[in-house]
Amino acid sequence: VKHVSAFPDNFLWGAASAAYQVEGGHDADGKGPSIWDIFSHQPGTTHEGTNGDVAADHYHRYREDVALMAEAGLQSYRFSISWPRLFPEGRGKMNPAGLKFYSDLIDELIKHGIKPMITLYHWDLPQALQDIGGWESRETVDAFEQYARLCFEAFGDRVELWSTFNETLIFIGMGYFTGAHPPGLTDAKRGIQACHHVFIAHAKAVKAFREYKDSRLINKKSQIGFVNVMQPHDPISDKPEDIAACKMADDLLTHWLYDPVLKGEYPAHILEIAQRTWGVPEFADGDEALLKSNICDFIGVNYYKREWIAANPDVDNTKINTTGKKGSGKEFGFKGLFKFVRTPESTYSDWDWEIYPQGLCVGMQRLKDRYGNIPFYITENGLGAKDPIIEGEVLDDPRIKYLSDHIAAAESAIKQGIDVRGYYPWSFIDLLSWLNGYQKQYGFVYVDQENNLARKRKKSFFWYQNVINSNGTKR
Ligand code: BG6
Repeated sequence: VKHVSAFPDNFLWGAASAAYQVEGGHDADGKGPSIWDIFSHQPGTTHEGTNGDVAADHYHRYREDVALMAEAGLQSYRFSISWPRLFPEGRGKMNPAGLKFYSDLIDELIKHGIKPMITLYHWDLPQALQDIGGWESRETVDAFEQYARLCFEAFGDRVELWSTFNETLIFIGMGYFTGAHPPGLTDAKRGIQACHHVFIAHAKAVKAFREYKDSRLINKKSQIGFVNVMQPHDPISDKPEDIAACKMADDLLTHWLYDPVLKGEYPAHILEIAQRTWGVPEFADGDEALLKSNICDFIGVNYYKREWIAANPDVDNTKINTTGKKGSGKEFGFKGLFKFVRTPESTYSDWDWEIYPQGLCVGMQRLKDRYGNIPFYITENGLGAKDPIIEGEVLDDPRIKYLSDHIAAAESAIKQGIDVRGYYPWSFIDLLSWLNGYQKQYGFVYVDQENNLARKRKKSFFWYQNVINSNGTKR
């Protein structure tokens, strides 16, 4: 039976991961330490002191993992490259063993007909660069360009889908505003400038990418994008102050982070406020033109949840819940601007994330309204849960329901004329959830921490196999 699918024939059904969360091999074969290697070893930073030293040990077991991907029918795999694996010091001397690992992984994927999608930066900055100021330093921008160029030169013949950065909202927001991620700061001025440097590093990489494309060093069909959190905001009431707070959340958490890569400039009225209040972002000569002339080819959206927004005259709590227990998170807000609120009308995951499938469609529609008809990849979407094991089987029905409902929302988006080109659930295999350790699982494949990290297909594995097989119609 041929199913009529709304998903185009060349739609990519994939899955995603990130180096620090899946690879392990934290010091294998000449890899240098990243800021996460150092940070997660400091007491009190993560859930019960968990870290990515070993993770799913994908570094040593990638062949087995790619075979599982092939069995699931994956058409594309999104993964990130660990910068300190290639440049242990962040720049200068390159580590050939690191390069070989990714080259072999790419070959293995291609051998199985799986298109690699590379993320250059998924938060694991080389510690050596943090030591000279990290993203606050222009030297890190130059180092990133060198690193990106090496990746384009080494893998550009085989990889067509690239993105520079993953989620400025999280690594800048939590690194510089809430302090829960490295470098652990709570300093808006420094955060805004660091974020500016990220945009400049992105623009430089896009520029280099296009030079390589023109000189045919990389495939003509290749595309480069930016991956952002897509977190639609809605006002909790129709009171003017809640609506104004919601608009502020949109400006600060969405437009500030999407405009520079899709319009080549910051939202003017917020830029004016930031520069008046903190004197940042400081532009160097050429920054403005660089941003303007290097708009990226697509946007990757990571969608997990919507946030309800309320006015916030009093709460000053930017500490987030790292215990991983439902209900233990305090109200989160920036005093005078907005706060995130919960409502009994919504459904939440065990980690207090609202489950709102339509938000996937609504979010992309809002982005389309602002930025025009850009190509989208849904680069992450998934449910973090502690999966039940019953008689040896991992029965992750809530995940199946979550993904199924979100695929329906992606289908509505396509029917509405939004150019959605791929869907990458987070994650292919169970991996480290940054602050939450290994208890917050996302994968189609279970990793048995008690049994030498043995892989086991979950119920969702077989379900997703069917989804892919039927091009999204059997779900
Ligand atoms: C995204 C990240 O923020 O969400 C992933 O890109 C992350 O790296 C995922 O794992 C889920 O978040 P968490 O905190 O539940 O692991």
